Amino acid sequence: MSARVLIPPSGAPPSPAGPTVDAAALRRAFRDRYGREPRLFQAPGRVNLIGEHTDYHDGFVLPLAMDRGTVVAAAPREDRRVRVLSLDAGEERDLDLGQPAVARRGEWLDYVEGVARELEVGVGRLRGADLMVHGDVPVGAGLSSSASLEVALGTALLSLSGRRVGRRRLARLCQAAEHRYVGTRCGIMDQLTAAAGRAGHALLIDCRSLRTTPIPLPADRAAVLVVHSGVRHRLASSGYNDRRAESESALRAIAPERPALRDVRPAEVEREGLDPLLQRRARHVVLEIDRTRRAARALRRFDLDAFGALMVESHRSLRDDYEVSTPELDALVEAALGQPGVYGSRMTGGGFGGCTVTMARPSAAQAVGAAVEAAFEARFGRRPMWFVTGAADGARELVGQTG
Ligand code: GLA
Repeated sequence: MSARVLIPPSGAPPSPAGPTVDAAALRRAFRDRYGREPRLFQAPGRVNLIGEHTDYHDGFVLPLAMDRGTVVAAAPREDRRVRVLSLDAGEERDLDLGQPAVARRGEWLDYVEGVARELEVGVGRLRGADLMVHGDVPVGAGLSSSASLEVALGTALLSLSGRRVGRRRLARLCQAAEHRYVGTRCGIMDQLTAAAGRAGHALLIDCRSLRTTPIPLPADRAAVLVVHSGVRHRLASSGYNDRRAESESALRAIAPERPALRDVRPAEVEREGLDPLLQRRARHVVLEIDRTRRAARALRRFDLDAFGALMVESHRSLRDDYEVSTPELDALVEAALGQPGVYGSRMTGGGFGGCTVTMARPSAAQAVGAAVEAAFEARFGRRPMWFVTGAADGARELVGQTG
């Protein structure tokens, strides 16, 4: 059996309803391998429009769930084993829920182990399962392939065991899986977007209350272009945890009695005597939270010029104050901003590689993608991958698929 059967033909338009993964082919592959009929569950990757490195300071973020994601084909087992075939990794692994948990093996099985174990602690005993996984979110690109895998797995495992939890709870448990079993101290944005995304909308998330407010983003009025710099990041090793620790130190230096940088005012960051590095980290977080609120208001009134200007400010802040951009990301942003029909552009996700997100007029989006590709190739000697994404729904069971 080959993973190739599941990859959509090149140039296939992204489906507005879900990922480009061929669900019918996945179903057939599962039947061939395990001789049983699976159920299919899906969770999207995300692209963050603005609000970067703010979620773990109780701030605001404004992502959308993409029309790319991870699909899990799943059938229950009578024992407590969880057997998983990843078509993307090209390997099958298994674990036994009856045995002690193993954390941080340093491979994709950590996500499976983490989600299953956290669900057992937080929700209750699970049945064993046979699982087959396939996704079309580029890995290490800052588009939350991991959260999409976690939330799809969680949805599948809960459903096979006849259990239900709310979307926020599911997101929290998947986040805990990533902290404990993978070792990245991520915020809540990725998992909550994968769980609670809304088709045709961006999601303003208050990361303190976890309240999500959908804001319309009609595809015929604004195009979201994602360009991958081709530099893969590894969040756990690439400084994400360092940035989190630095900004937490900044909070302790500025206002130790307050719960998070969300509770700090811009003027307080600028006080004399603060360590310059901590000051830069805090400045980014505090101003980015404010930018995100303003960007959400601009999007509500569909003022894309104002929105785009805030995206550009966000990028500069991530580059200069938070220091998580790269020369490749900066070049992609500059190239996009030089194109007609572009409202704004910035790096997206944790940084240290990965993608940029560009908001453009729908009629201009393809030309912008092609121009950015050419400019990048001229400078770095290779072509970046890019696509235009719609905004999709969060995790769900795929029902009524053919095959
Ligand atoms: C990663 C983390 C998120 C968030 C972003 C930066 O994607 O998983 O929680 O912190 O980086 O905004």
